[in-house]
Amino acid sequence: MATKPPTVIAIYPGSFDPITSGHLDLIERGSKLFDRLIVSILVNDEKEPLFSVEERVEMVREVLRGYQNVEVDHFEGLLVDYAAARGATVLLRGIRAISDYEKELQMALMNRRLRPEIETLFLMSSEAHSFISSHIVKEVFRLGGKMTGLVPPSVEARLRKRLNTAAALSPAQLK
Ligand code: PNS
Repeated sequence: MATKPPTVIAIYPGSFDPITSGHLDLIERGSKLFDRLIVSILVNDEKEPLFSVEERVEMVREVLRGYQNVEVDHFEGLLVDYAAARGATVLLRGIRAISDYEKELQMALMNRRLRPEIETLFLMSSEAHSFISSHIVKEVFRLGGKMTGLVPPSVEARLRKRLNTAAALSPAQLK
């Protein structure tokens, strides 16, 4: 019979390009459910991110200062292999709307097939955050829209700096 590990470690994986208030809400709620929560940023240069992995790690660390049981890391390769190497038994993901469900189901089932001992747990986004994504945040910001509440203030400042100074951002970086 399976037994519960004495310390439950969860991974909250994602691109976090950049971290939004929606991510933050999920981290806050997740931090109350697990002994340790590792927010882990995927290293995927093919996606041409707006912020480098190093910048994103720094931004997430800035925002999460004060959370005792939350740490920030990055990973490459298969998520489940990384999770196993970190001793995690849970993958935490958020679901905002039905449109997220299909992709999340596919990922969760593939991850379960690869490593059945690791469970994917979903939290529903809070109503206030269910429309926020990194993609829409970048688009609104680029077009001069108001950002208050969509991202933490330190991230807003970084976005402003990046979008004002980088004359030649490729369209892929703003996706
Ligand atoms: O924030 P995102 O872009 O929705 O996060 C997607 C992420 C990082 C969770 C997903 O792309 C991922 O797990 N990538 C690692 C590669 C992997 O393990 N793929 C096989 C299972 S789907």
